[in-house]
Amino acid sequence: MSATKTKPKTLQSSRRQGRHGCWDHLIVAPLWVAYDANLGTLLRTCDAVGACLAVPKTAHYQNALSIGDTLGGRRPCIHWVAPSKEKWIASQRTAGKRIVAVELAEGAIPLPRLTPAREPTVMLLGHEHNGIPDDVLAWADDCVEIPMIGCGASLNVAVAGSLVVYRLAGLA
Ligand SMILES: C[S@@+](CC[C@H](N)C(=O)[O-])C[C@H]1O[C@@H](n2cnc3c(N)ncnc32)[C@H](O)[C@@H]1O
Repeated sequence: MSATKTKPKTLQSSRRQGRHGCWDHLIVAPLWVAYDANLGTLLRTCDAVGACLAVPKTAHYQNALSIGDTLGGRRPCIHWVAPSKEKWIASQRTAGKRIVAVELAEGAIPLPRLTPAREPTVMLLGHEHNGIPDDVLAWADDCVEIPMIGCGASLNVAVAGSLVVYRLAGLA
């Protein structure tokens, strides 16, 4: 006999701990992601897993996040990346964070073998068409690839980022 499933209206809010501040342990960095909907989806995933979001400090990203934000302004922590993406990544590494690139690449760790982040981690995501630049990929500490068996060349970047950050957060 299967258990009865119910969906009481209070369940969604009772399972949440509420808005979180900057824990700085896990930062999702879609530094090359361009589209509003993808940035908004990643912002929502960050809220769900307790991660921060890092995006370039430009009018494009400020505007894209205000359009893509479906959290009604109750955003997780946002780190504004400046003066350049490369300098910001280097500063994160100097601060002791592990840089994890999410990309289809030779030598990447398959997602099922990825373990939850035990150290402060920055997770990089690439552009919808061009991916993560090769030079950045070359100096990431690790690269994670999500195995695929279908015909598509890659996953949507917000889907890929959400799958990997759930794993890094220890929730999947
Ligand atoms: C649509 S893909 C970019 C594909 C691009 N044509 C290329 O060759 O790099 C956008 C981003 O989503 C992520 N992504 C998509 N599918 C992935 C997969 N199977 N494994 C790891 N990352 C993936 C990566 O961060 C990638 O840079």
